[in-house]
Amino acid sequence: MLIVRTIAEARAALRELRARGLSVGLVPTMGALHEGHLSLVRAARAACDDHPGGVVVVSIFVNPKQFGPNEDFAKYPRTFEADMAALEREGVDLIFAPAAEEMYPQGATAFVEVAGVSGRLDGASRPGHFRGVATVVAKLFNIIEPDKAFFGQKDAAQVAVLKKMVDELNFGLELVACPIVREPDGLAMSSRNRYLSAEERRQALVLSRAVREVERLAAGGVTESSELIAAAEAVLAEEPEVRVDYCKVVDPDTLEDVADTQHGALFAVAAFVGTTRLIDNLVLPTRA
Ligand code: PAJ
Repeated sequence: MLIVRTIAEARAALRELRARGLSVGLVPTMGALHEGHLSLVRAARAACDDHPGGVVVVSIFVNPKQFGPNEDFAKYPRTFEADMAALEREGVDLIFAPAAEEMYPQGATAFVEVAGVSGRLDGASRPGHFRGVATVVAKLFNIIEPDKAFFGQKDAAQVAVLKKMVDELNFGLELVACPIVREPDGLAMSSRNRYLSAEERRQALVLSRAVREVERLAAGGVTESSELIAAAEAVLAEEPEVRVDYCKVVDPDTLEDVADTQHGALFAVAAFVGTTRLIDNLVLPTRA
């Protein structure tokens, strides 16, 4: 496993690998890796099966441009040694772990803005967040030039923003969205879960309970968004200390509200547990 810190080294390593005809899968992360991240690494590895020896690249970069001024950039967990060990076990070929000065040597004046969709769901409560995400992911795509890039459905709004970016800006790669990985009790895995006290960890389960309730109702034939939202809100109200940021049924591509789920939809919830903001969601497939 090769670990590189500079753009020049990453480009040189990839040039050599690509010259051998190998396809490249990229998994962008901010480190503090858990099984959710590792599921993306495994998906990247599996996608290379038709190309034995395909290359799996993981980037680790806590991107300052996607954190708001009052967000957790400074305290975001950094667990580089443990991350390296986990990625080594997964058989990752290349780690790209640049410093902020490498990615933004003169600060930044050029940004990628995906208008509209970037202002919805998490983008509505985190202004500038998706501009920071789209910009750093565009840079990673330009540096690594992957054939496929792997993202978690856990961050459904991020997937919507990045799919639109790839499509409209003609990045020549396939964006693959992978399912949410959960703790045994249902909590969606997140690097931010480690901020939770034992009591908050218990309260946080209300998000996945709300998701399960929506899943149950949808399986029973309920398609009206207002009914699904009301049921989810009733579950969320079981934990009065949990402050709901949004609880919505939206179009998975545009992230705009939809009145019913007949043509497929995304149920998405975000809430503050203590000071920690957590998200969860469920894709509701098109009903035949
Ligand atoms: P990070 O939060 O580290 O997540 C990296 C990737 O792991 C994202 O695609 C995210 O959706 C996925 N992921 C996180 N938790 C998951 C879970 N429980 N199940 C499945 N996938 C999960 O998302 C980012 O970093 C950044 O915004 C990034 C894309 C790296 C740009 O800076």
